[in-house]
Amino acid sequence: MLSVEDLQELFLKYLKNELFVQSPKELYEPVNYILQLGGKRLRPVLLLMGANLFSEEIDHALPAALAIEIFHNFSLVHDDIMDEAELRRGQPTVHIKYGQNAGILSGDAMLILTYQYLNQLKNPGQLSAILAIFNQLAIEVCEGQQYDMNFETQESVEIAAYLKMIELKTSVLIAGGLKIGALIGGAAEEDANELYEFGRHIGIAFQLQDDILDTFGDPEKFGKKVGGDIAQNKKTFLLLKSLEQAKGQDREDLMAALSDSTNPSQKIEQVTRIYQNLKVQEQASELMEDYLEKAFIHLDRVKVEKSRKIFLQNLANQLMMREI
Ligand code: IPE
Ligand code: IPE
Ligand code: MG
Ligand code: MG
Ligand code: MG
Repeated sequence: MLSVEDLQELFLKYLKNELFVQSPKELYEPVNYILQLGGKRLRPVLLLMGANLFSEEIDHALPAALAIEIFHNFSLVHDDIMDEAELRRGQPTVHIKYGQNAGILSGDAMLILTYQYLNQLKNPGQLSAILAIFNQLAIEVCEGQQYDMNFETQESVEIAAYLKMIELKTSVLIAGGLKIGALIGGAAEEDANELYEFGRHIGIAFQLQDDILDTFGDPEKFGKKVGGDIAQNKKTFLLLKSLEQAKGQDREDLMAALSDSTNPSQKIEQVTRIYQNLKVQEQASELMEDYLEKAFIHLDRVKVEKSRKIFLQNLANQLMMREI
């Protein structure tokens, strides 16, 4: 079995060989830019881990791993336009560097490249099942992104609706990638479904951590603008819990900050202070722990030797403590 580091290296080597040198360069340069900007490579590594759980031979899962990473990066390029974000992985976002039209069209091209890589599946008998899984998660990501946008201007959002939103925008890609990897590795449907559930729970915890880092991350390490969610009135877990619990002066300040679109740095400072007063970060961490625990129940049910699951277990634990 390969370690996370081995899988990362294997994936990066494959990616490097696949970079896009076609014309026009205005279309492909942004694609290569975002793909080479780094990032954790979490989704392709998880897909490969899903395959490696059931098979020692995983090279033939590389095109699907790249497909998932390209799709993820496509979603980020369009997400950064929608979120008006200027920084990604410590560098200018695609639309800031190359312009909004380039971001839209290069993103479109990346979505098509995703399908080209999925189509390289070695076992054509699996293609239709894997495409169905992918299509389902891809449309769900769009649904999640739309809820995320809707919630910005919606005054009250239930925690349950928020959790559904992050499941759609973030966790189904992680879950579906793991399931696709498992099937490529030869897993039985039942085991592949347990891995999906493992990924779904990990993915929700992952987005909760993303929300925490967006406010409390170290700007030197995080690579995105700290406070971006607050500036955009994103209905994160931190904000929803604060809206639920803030009283007196905190409540007045919070409501005032939410309607302020003129002074983002003051707004970020004020809302962060209220989050600290109400200890909502701690509440988010507790919920993450609950999801992690549930995730492990599903991993336990996968019918392979316990020792083969250690890398996945370690990675899930590390993700909860991540700083980037
Ligand atoms: C960012 O994903 C988008 C979210 C779903 C939170 P990552 O945090 O995995 O981004 P990279 O690929 O490592 O930069
Ligand atoms: C991103 O959520 C989800 C998708 C890109 C589908 P965020 O908007 O929280 O991701 P970041 O924080 O910009 O990476
Ligand atoms: Mg964003
Ligand atoms: Mg977003
Ligand atoms: Mg975020």
